[in-house]
Amino acid sequence: CGIVGYIGLKQAQNVLLEGLEKLEYRGYDSAGVAIYNGDEIGVKKTKGRLADLANHLDQKALVGQLGIGHTRWATHGKPSDENSHPHVDGEEQFAVVHNGIIENYIELKEELIAKGHHFTSETDTEVIAKLLSDLHDGNLISTVKKVVKRLRGAYALGIISNYEPDKLVAVRLASPLVVGIGEGENFIASDIPAILKHTRDVYILEDGEMAVLDQHHVQLMTLEGTPVNRDVLRVTWDMETAEKGGFDHFMLKEIYEQPKAIRDTLAGRIKDGLVDLSQEVGLTAESAKQINKIHFVACGTAYHAGLVGKTVLEQLTRIPVEIDVASEYRYRNPIIDEHTLVVVVSQSGETADTLAALREAKKHGARVLAITNVVGSSVSREADDVIVTWAGPEIAVASTKAYTSQLIAIYLLGMYMAQLLETSVVASIGNLLDELQSLPEKTEEVLGQADKIAEFTKSIVHHEHLFFLGRGMDYAVALEGSLKLKEISYIHSEAYAAGELKHGTLALIEEGIPVISLATQHAVFEKMVSNIQEVKARGAHVLGLASEGDTELLKSVDEVMYIPTIHDLFAPVLAVVPLQLLAYYACVERGYDVDKPRNLAKSVTVE
Ligand code: G6P
Repeated sequence: CGIVGYIGLKQAQNVLLEGLEKLEYRGYDSAGVAIYNGDEIGVKKTKGRLADLANHLDQKALVGQLGIGHTRWATHGKPSDENSHPHVDGEEQFAVVHNGIIENYIELKEELIAKGHHFTSETDTEVIAKLLSDLHDGNLISTVKKVVKRLRGAYALGIISNYEPDKLVAVRLASPLVVGIGEGENFIASDIPAILKHTRDVYILEDGEMAVLDQHHVQLMTLEGTPVNRDVLRVTWDMETAEKGGFDHFMLKEIYEQPKAIRDTLAGRIKDGLVDLSQEVGLTAESAKQINKIHFVACGTAYHAGLVGKTVLEQLTRIPVEIDVASEYRYRNPIIDEHTLVVVVSQSGETADTLAALREAKKHGARVLAITNVVGSSVSREADDVIVTWAGPEIAVASTKAYTSQLIAIYLLGMYMAQLLETSVVASIGNLLDELQSLPEKTEEVLGQADKIAEFTKSIVHHEHLFFLGRGMDYAVALEGSLKLKEISYIHSEAYAAGELKHGTLALIEEGIPVISLATQHAVFEKMVSNIQEVKARGAHVLGLASEGDTELLKSVDEVMYIPTIHDLFAPVLAVVPLQLLAYYACVERGYDVDKPRNLAKSVTVE
């Protein structure tokens, strides 16, 4: 989501709308503004694009020089007028915009309802507006501090109040927020581009800090009230760079956002040493035991996540799993009944084939569980159960952080079902969860080796063909690595199950051809080393990818890259990162458009 706030002498409505336009990349399923008109706070918010909000405001403007605005990417509660921000308290004395998640909002909501507060939305944000009113002590700053003490989660807030209309308050806890310093006016925003038209002088708020703005001053303080002295940052970049947060391309930014996306997808779903999906998955021990087969159905990168998912769910649940691309599934008359669990995976939740497959499955009585990145998407509305991946908006067509978060959702689902079914893995669930929770940090370690991949990329960019090899889940990751490379660098590549190579494709291996060999799966490590020898013997130039400590590989390959040691089941998350970077660097070296590859679209809503 994106936040903007203004206090000054201009009409707030215009500043907010222009700012929100620059933040639309952060979400665009609804938008709204709250503006103080000298007497009361007026709110206009609507489901749909920012242009819809602008149309409403064209017809009936909100006049005033203090305001906050929001563009939403739905998390809690589907996109609707009611769920749009800003949210207000019952008396409309406070208005709040929010980016992030309030993890304890259910308990807070129950507490506030018991005290007589009436809620009109399904959002976690509304709790903040009601809490402001509930805890109001006559002083806006101290009230905000009291409210924040009650909130758990990661968030950024913008707040205005009728009681002190000379103030705009901003709070940051683990969601980005900047303060723009103008002359006779000040601003807040989730990201610099939203205010760059008005000022280049900003303070970047840090976690646990708040800012109190009036027309002429900005006070920064910690949430405990200790004043903070911060140097003003003079923005020298242009608009385009700023939106990418300093990265050259959205794809690179999104690759680097993966540790956060993984952390956010895990957040709140592990409780007391067990996976808890009870809020989102309606399966019970009883109904789980009725399932006798699982089908994964998806397209593109999401399909590749499903390929990993097949092994993961079979290992954890011991239920047979099939996987299909959605466009095949829907027409092949698959055997589906009420004992089938169909798992559809879709970043956008709008892919036409995936949606059609979902409907087909429902028609035959299956239970459909969706793993999607977009709350309120068609897939999420029509599925029986939804596990949301909290990767945040993904802009680059080549999917990266959505894929790794899909894997995390699949691990959580597998373990949750194992618990319901009481399979033998339950005995080691503590250990598995420790490994799962180590992924964000270990992903950071892999990203730390980006230079090495950039260097290796130079040796492949002039080739027109190359190969990816792997066994088991490494094969699934090889397919995703190969797709990434094809989509954006336009180098032709094939991913092969390493043991299958000798049955034909080995004929294509000749002197100097690059072969990227994944060897992260310990159970088949030695077999993989033999397959590498086979291609080396025919002149291939091999990059090996292995787990730290498996130095055996060094002897057989030309270059080697290590991922941190991890349980085999979770290695795909770490193994895919170097392959994403490889595709990225290859595309840049070859001079193509990273974020918008030719012929492709981010969301394919046609068959
Ligand atoms: C398009 C995108 C791919 C994506 C696929 C499935 O082809 O270019 O990156 O993997 O659709 O999209 P979904 O939103 O269903 O995951």
